[in-house]
Amino acid sequence: MTTWSQRITRSRVWRSFFRHGWPDNPLDRSLVMTTNIFFHLHPVKVSRASLKATYSFGLGILATILFGILAITGTLIMFYYVPSTERAYEDIIFLQTKVPYGQLMRNMHRWAAHGMVLVVVLHMVRVFYTGAYKPPREFNWIVGVILLLLTLGASFTGYLLPWDQLSYWAITVGTNIAGYAPFIGPDLRMMLLGGVEVGQNALTRFYALHIMVIPGALLLLISLHIWRVRKDGGLAAQRKAEDSLNIVGEETL
Ligand code: HEM
Repeated sequence: MTTWSQRITRSRVWRSFFRHGWPDNPLDRSLVMTTNIFFHLHPVKVSRASLKATYSFGLGILATILFGILAITGTLIMFYYVPSTERAYEDIIFLQTKVPYGQLMRNMHRWAAHGMVLVVVLHMVRVFYTGAYKPPREFNWIVGVILLLLTLGASFTGYLLPWDQLSYWAITVGTNIAGYAPFIGPDLRMMLLGGVEVGQNALTRFYALHIMVIPGALLLLISLHIWRVRKDGGLAAQRKAEDSLNIVGEETL
């Protein structure tokens, strides 16, 4: 007699979505893991210690989720924002006061940006504290450092876009500081602003960096970073002696 689970998993609808039967046997359980893009992000075997929520506090995943929220809310804001010194400020006021859910979108974008900076820094502290930068993970630490710089770069470039007094003077001060860097300072300042002071050229450049260059680089490097975690055998949680006999994915679980 066929059970209900067998009837479901033999149906054409089920087969068109999933490439495995009901996960009630070792073969189908492993197929669930290897044919699902999200489960496949995990290595085949992980140590129990790395599964403890207090090991990583999920900070890397949280940073990835915040990046996703920023991409979605940022795209929605782009429908109303024109990067022109004549229009930018008014567009933001219009977004906040007239567009349905406009204020919510802007606030979500702003808070997610602050949150991402905080979470990425905490994630780096966690990685350092647990010694997860040691071999073979040095490469991923370097990728992480670039991710931190890109996250700060996204915050800095986004700050100018509302084109209010706060943004204008913050970017004036920020780019002046960059101008004092040894050797490259003045050229760097000129390259960022596209002129000698904060104006239309600076707004155009910051906009291009903020909506295309930095998010594109972040997307690429976050993918590389997470793929590298998997290839390095998952999180670097220490395996205790008895834990090594207790690998999740083997018969013990
Ligand atoms: C946009 C910023 C970042 C994102 C989205 C991100 C994402 C992630 C994710 C999802 C993980 C696996 C889960 C976890 O550990 O929580 C991870 C692990 C790791 N991250 Fe990041 N990360 C970022 C920035 C950084 C920074 C700034 C560093 C260090 C400078 C770093 C170094 C590492 C290392 C070495 C691991 C492996 C940790 C281990 O094996 O225990 N990451 N990251």
